[in-house]
Amino acid sequence: MPSYVPVPKAELHLHIEGTLEPDLAFALAERNGVTLTHADALTLRNAYAFEDLQSFLTLYYELMSVLVTEDDFAALAEAYLKRAAEQGVRHAEIFFDPQAHTARGVSFGTVIRGLDRALARSEERHGISTRLIMSFLRDRPVSSALDTLAEAQPYLELITGVGLDSAEVGFPPELFTEVYARAAALGLRRVAHAGEEGGPEYVIGALDALGVERIDHGLRAFEDPALTARLVRDAVPLTLCPLSNVRLRTVGTLEEHPLPAMMAAGLKCTVNSDDPSYFGGYADDNYTAVRDALGLSSEDLRTLARNSFEAAFLEDDEQLRSRYLAEVAAHRF
Ligand code: HPA
Ligand code: ZN
Repeated sequence: MPSYVPVPKAELHLHIEGTLEPDLAFALAERNGVTLTHADALTLRNAYAFEDLQSFLTLYYELMSVLVTEDDFAALAEAYLKRAAEQGVRHAEIFFDPQAHTARGVSFGTVIRGLDRALARSEERHGISTRLIMSFLRDRPVSSALDTLAEAQPYLELITGVGLDSAEVGFPPELFTEVYARAAALGLRRVAHAGEEGGPEYVIGALDALGVERIDHGLRAFEDPALTARLVRDAVPLTLCPLSNVRLRTVGTLEEHPLPAMMAAGLKCTVNSDDPSYFGGYADDNYTAVRDALGLSSEDLRTLARNSFEAAFLEDDEQLRSRYLAEVAAHRF
């Protein structure tokens, strides 16, 4: 039996802080003299039973306290890239949450220099091209997002785009209109989480007020036929995260996930892992889970992989995009 080869894919919705595995968290805690409230890695993993987005975010932010030095951020990104390569990821557009670190006294420079150390050698070591997307925490003041954009100025060479994450409901996209206008003026690409827990109006706001080019999640856009028609017409990519949706109870079970219907409606869907350490699977684990639970065919998986490269921010290297697309076309399932 030939061994299983995952389809080549781009990962477009991945929070680097959400790749922090319990073992690494405890190793870094010890190295940095940080005390975690959970006794050990097993106890911690057992705490990964979430009610909703907020219950996850509370643990997600708490565990970040172990990330202190450049070395820590480099180790985090290196561990992700190694796992991602095993899962067929060939290109990764990686979110990071600077405010979650600067708010506890870790400098923007420490975070981005550490991440960049791993990313800069990723093509050579792991065969994965990378981009960084700086995400603003929407449940913090807009002034904090503007400060973060200012702190990013010396590092713009390393940053491809901006995103918007954290608690969605009650923090509509329109709040960040000025932040996104400034980011666009700096030449940054724009994405935003929308329609994860929030309704279709959050997706409309992200498109109209923020001018985003992709929607992160976008699951609930499908409740609105006119919005769905618009997303199909404009071929706006959605970065869906099926295992995340189940763990955060946005859908009841994976078998009930609307992905097949969304694909059939003509939406440009991609499948991603979001916070793989917390949600039970990396990129290809999500592909195989939807294949098994939803009966997706090999050609459906090929479409998802093709969409991921078509939706990637690879305009500065169309040759690379073409090479990846050729790999997808040639893949034998
Ligand atoms: N949603 C919103 N914010 C986040 C997520 C998510 O799934 N993961 C990390 N930050
Ligand atoms: Zn996310």
